[in-house]
Amino acid sequence: MEQWLHSRAFVRERRGLVRTADAPAGTTLESGRHEVSSGPPLDLAANDYLGLSRDPRVTAAAIDAVAHHGCGARASRVVNGTLAVHNYLEEQLCLLTAAQSALVFSSGYLANLGVLTSLGGPGTLLILDSHVHASLLDAARLARSPVVMVAHGDTAEVGAVLAARTQPRAVVVVESLYSVLGDAADLNELAVLCARHDAWLLVDEAHGIGVAGAGRGAVYEAGLGHASHVVRTVTLSKALGSQGGAVLGSATLREHLVNTSRTFIFDTALAPAAAGAAAKAAQIILAEPALAQQLHSNATTLARLCGFARSPGAVQSVPMPSAEDALQAAQTLRTAGLLVGCFRPPSVPDGVSRLRLTARADLMAYELEHAAVLLGRVMPALPDSSLGSAVAELDKEK
Ligand SMILES: Cc1ncc(COP(=O)(O)O)c(C=O)c1O
Repeated sequence: MEQWLHSRAFVRERRGLVRTADAPAGTTLESGRHEVSSGPPLDLAANDYLGLSRDPRVTAAAIDAVAHHGCGARASRVVNGTLAVHNYLEEQLCLLTAAQSALVFSSGYLANLGVLTSLGGPGTLLILDSHVHASLLDAARLARSPVVMVAHGDTAEVGAVLAARTQPRAVVVVESLYSVLGDAADLNELAVLCARHDAWLLVDEAHGIGVAGAGRGAVYEAGLGHASHVVRTVTLSKALGSQGGAVLGSATLREHLVNTSRTFIFDTALAPAAAGAAAKAAQIILAEPALAQQLHSNATTLARLCGFARSPGAVQSVPMPSAEDALQAAQTLRTAGLLVGCFRPPSVPDGVSRLRLTARADLMAYELEHAAVLLGRVMPALPDSSLGSAVAELDKEK
């Protein structure tokens, strides 16, 4: 077995696909605390789109929830793990997104698994956009449903598959803002198609909540907040700066999930601190639409400074010639003090490796300018588009 693990590691290394789960270089770990020893890096990698994970109001709400409920929820929601803070969070999510009801899970991943396995089965056709997140692909596998993958963003193909279906039920599965390319689904068109063919539309708003619709999400923005055939999943771990996930939909759907969703029933409830923090973040996003506006203004500035067309979300995606080039560029930038996402197979649905930049509301103008200068040195669109020589140039300057 060890030998097999070594051979797999060797193959990953040869393909430039090695990942690590270590704290950034320059930090030391002491009693679980990160001590930054050489100045904090400029972070365009994390998903804290509105900078709420360290907002004093959000951290105070987390502390308050711990003081009231303890560190852990101690049991599944359906045993005695449901705390007042979970129901309060569900209320706040409904206010933010105009959903009829919300059910909180302990992650966005588990929310996706929970809803698709509960709606799926042999009588439910699942139609997935080919760029949907890994959690939705895993959910489709677990659902024991017939599955059709359609080309990315191809609503005509969705319509054709719906029209030809033989199963009594169908769910069309998309993301509102896609996690790797940062592009948007045509929600209005999809909702019309689904209504026409008596199907559900499941929209993963992981990257839409807090970002689109002045923070209230792309489904809200599209005027579909109350549409009973539109089901949403959200993560609390990106713009809401916390941890956890939720399914938003009708009260009937919520009741169905409470009774059938295995990732809800057989999982300890979300930790109180995460629930308290996310509830406060949801309140802030609703009360302060200027936060989402600032994020968009920063994304536009970043795209302009770097010379690429901006995508509608916070995620800006820079294609790289190869996985090795993406990794080398990300490492060079990290050494220079800039953290960017490095997306390589299997995390890229089209096989194109990328640097992934996330614009945040709390980035300062000088930080965007500094990031653009560093990025300009490693981006493949340089006059000499050979990334290797661009990186070498940067190395020479040091
Ligand atoms: C589109 C999408 N859906 C779901 C998830 C999973 O959310 P969580 O991190 O809360 O498990 C992610 C996280 O990366 C995501 O990008």
